[in-house]
Amino acid sequence: MKNVLIIGSTGQIGSELTMKLRGIYGNANVVAGYIPGAEPKGELAESGPKEIVDITNAQQIADVVKKYDIDTIYNLAALLSAVAENKPQLAWKIGIGGLMNTLEVAREHHCAVFTPSSIGSFGPNAPKDGTPQDTIQQPRTMYGVTKVSGELLSNYYALKFGVDTRSVRFPGLISYVAPPGGGTTDYAVDIYYSAVRGEKFICPIKAGTFMDMMYMPDALRAAIEIMEADPSRLQHRNSFNIASMSFDPDIIYRKIKEYVPSFEMEYQVDPLRQAIADSWPNRLDDTCARIEWDWKPEYDLDGMTRDMLEKLRVKLGK
Ligand code: SER
Repeated sequence: MKNVLIIGSTGQIGSELTMKLRGIYGNANVVAGYIPGAEPKGELAESGPKEIVDITNAQQIADVVKKYDIDTIYNLAALLSAVAENKPQLAWKIGIGGLMNTLEVAREHHCAVFTPSSIGSFGPNAPKDGTPQDTIQQPRTMYGVTKVSGELLSNYYALKFGVDTRSVRFPGLISYVAPPGGGTTDYAVDIYYSAVRGEKFICPIKAGTFMDMMYMPDALRAAIEIMEADPSRLQHRNSFNIASMSFDPDIIYRKIKEYVPSFEMEYQVDPLRQAIADSWPNRLDDTCARIEWDWKPEYDLDGMTRDMLEKLRVKLGK
């Protein structure tokens, strides 16, 4: 990887991944793609090149790929699960139309492509605990439909045209930098903000609902390591199960309370998000990622909680 384009560089993952990639490959070699209305700001805007790249516009992607001689595209454009349920056509247009545009440009210009998949690519009939790498994928959400279709389309481009497509199935991602926008796992980010602000947290997900979660530093490392992995070792491409921790709202609440004893939480379940969460796995089996490219998470719930609380206290001036 020498010249990288991030599509969706100002989103929850992109804003941190862009800076991390600039640290590794050099500021000038990592282009922050963004859509009007979501312009890069601060360090993201000032540390390297930025270009308007709307994933639904194939020409814009091709122009930037040519201008910067891009060899690797991180395609991070997506609507998260709860938003996608309300805007299914837009979710398809971005998730699949946009991916098709990206893959076509990648085919013509010989780029590798990373497109995240998700725990949401599984549905209620997949094994819930220790969900295998290769198992039934019949999601009931539009988000999941775009993710599993994206996995298939990416594998097709690898097999048929030799495009170097690779991917991981991300769990809910937790970070203190950019907020997620309308996912089912967002509660596990919001809960830390409430704890640090000294507010009671209103939890939209029922106690007993387990989902895979991951601290952002591990997720960024996964996205980089899979793209750097030795291709001769990869039996899979799109997409690898990865995992680091699985908890329900009560477990994360009790963990935060160890460090913020006055913290209170109350349940007010959001039926849309609860139904989505109920259809997803409790815990993925990430053995293939560990074997094929040495995946290993560094953060558990305790390590993540201590770091989140410390960083958020600084960010929020508390
Ligand atoms: N965080 C995502 C969501 O909730 C899951 O991949 O939509």
